[in-house]
Amino acid sequence: MEQTLSIIKPDAVAKGVIGKIIDRFESEQLRIVATKKIQLSKQDAQSFYAVHAERPFFKDLVDFMISGPVVVSVLEGENAVLVHRDLMGATDPKEAEIGTIRADFAENIDANAVHGSDSVENAKNEIRFFFADRELT
Ligand code: CMP
Repeated sequence: MEQTLSIIKPDAVAKGVIGKIIDRFESEQLRIVATKKIQLSKQDAQSFYAVHAERPFFKDLVDFMISGPVVVSVLEGENAVLVHRDLMGATDPKEAEIGTIRADFAENIDANAVHGSDSVENAKNEIRFFFADRELT
């Protein structure tokens, strides 16, 4: 069993597709361990995406992530990191396979509907970033 972190980004929350996206997780046997809708501060977003701080898209990424509420969830299942990444599709929705979340709901590489951890190790850190132990049931 693995755990991974999902963020439903402000564009997808604004579109009203939280339920549709969570349904895809559960349909692929990813259990919702914890979930909450929150408004990130600038400092939250800068700190969460610190690995991208030197990238040219960092400022736009932070501005976008604080443009409205997000839904953060911990998903659990066999190979959860990879299963979740397959469900999301490529980072750039233009390259995402038909039927993936980003192909169906994302606008462009900035407003790309969802984020998912890219490794088990990063998942642990990302889960700890958003959730206290008592929230992980
Ligand atoms: P995410 O999986 O949340 O991780 C970092 C985000 O930066 C990524 O999704 C994209 O939304 C955004 N981004 C913008 N431009 C790029 C780029 N050229 N390469 C990777 N990520 C980008």
